[in-house]
Amino acid sequence: MTERTVRIALVGLGFGAEFIPIYQAHPNVEIAAICQRSRDKLDAIGDAFGIRDRYTDYAELLRDESIDAVHINTPIPDHARQSIAALRAGKHVACTVPMATTLYELREIVTLSEQTGLRYMMMETVVYSREFLFVQDLYRRGELGRVQFLRASHQQEMAGWPGYWEGLPPMHYATHCVGPVLALTDAQAESVTCLGSGRIAEPLISKYGSPFAIESCHIRFADCDLGAEITRSLFDTARQYRESFEVYGSQRSFEWPLIEHEPCVLHTGEQPTLVTVPDFADRLPEPIRKFTTEGVYDSDANQHLSFTQGSGHGGSHPHLAHEFVRALVEDRPPYPDARRSANWTAVGILAHQSAMRGGELQELPEYTRFAARATVGGGA
Ligand SMILES: NC(=O)c1ccc[n+]([C@@H]2O[C@H](COP(=O)([O-])OP(=O)(O)OC[C@H]3O[C@@H](n4cnc5c(N)ncnc54)[C@H](O)[C@@H]3O)[C@@H](O)[C@H]2O)c1
Repeated sequence: MTERTVRIALVGLGFGAEFIPIYQAHPNVEIAAICQRSRDKLDAIGDAFGIRDRYTDYAELLRDESIDAVHINTPIPDHARQSIAALRAGKHVACTVPMATTLYELREIVTLSEQTGLRYMMMETVVYSREFLFVQDLYRRGELGRVQFLRASHQQEMAGWPGYWEGLPPMHYATHCVGPVLALTDAQAESVTCLGSGRIAEPLISKYGSPFAIESCHIRFADCDLGAEITRSLFDTARQYRESFEVYGSQRSFEWPLIEHEPCVLHTGEQPTLVTVPDFADRLPEPIRKFTTEGVYDSDANQHLSFTQGSGHGGSHPHLAHEFVRALVEDRPPYPDARRSANWTAVGILAHQSAMRGGELQELPEYTRFAARATVGGGA
């Protein structure tokens, strides 16, 4: 039996353009359309990739009945609004991080997805990075022993990025840290407390009313004795770009390198070993395996030149695209689904709220909680 082909529209073609060649090579996908605001760039990309249907108006795209799903890569303030509009228009949604910046929007997306049966997936890159897949593989094989604690950080200097970034509360873009610490054991957050530290430049503070240079949050996991710590900074803190993920187990622990591109460290008891993390391309259909290789396009440096090259972010892009597509083909929830995406995103929203209230404990709302399915702590 021939498998279903999913017709996907790409919305937002900066970072989003990286996914075009992946979807074009995927055996279950047809790119139905592309959408972005300015006509000249839309046409340049449409011509380069041979895509006929092009929209500068998102509302018009949603009226196109031939489109099954949208993959949204627009600026942060648009993510929730566009996801909600797509679900209301009967489209499945994949959306880049973060899912939303308010709890109200999270509830709306979860509710719509569950009422309609349409799938929602937040495209969190770190949980499909080769480093995460490596640790997940150790966990699933029971090699970590009992998981005792997790830690993640994401430090980046956003000066010079588009205006909506200026003064953004660090924890409003926290899913690169929250995602891996919760996803490893498929745990969910129950509550958070967060410390805001330092102070950014006054003109930045006025944008979102957020003064802190660094926000550091403790997450209490639901239904188990595990917890995690996550650290975020966006402005006025000297640090090389870093997304890190560390897990401490009774038998083995994994630590991200301090300096980018150095090897990761695996500790067996007190014995450290430098490890070169393997590629997990063999989990993908052959035509998209090549996209796990790092390309020259560097969206974190805001360089949008070489959109025909491979994929960054730890080789995660083809894994993310494949997961979304297979969920639609197999008619099953993607990972992360709407509730998990909401739980991960709510951690950041509530962490910032906690920091603004002097570290007050914040409970995760019911609509971000989900039925547990994994063994937390000891290996799946
Ligand atoms: N690792 C990751 O997961 C990762 C990395 C980079 C960027 N991102 C996310 O991707 C998003 C986009 O980042 P970017 O650097 O490409 O931004 P960008 O500003 O360079 O590009 C935004 C794109 O969205 C389009 N757009 C804006 N408003 C639109 C609208 N109303 N309708 C249709 N199209 C619209 C623009 O035309 C442009 O193509 C950000 O929200 C960021 O959070 C995630």
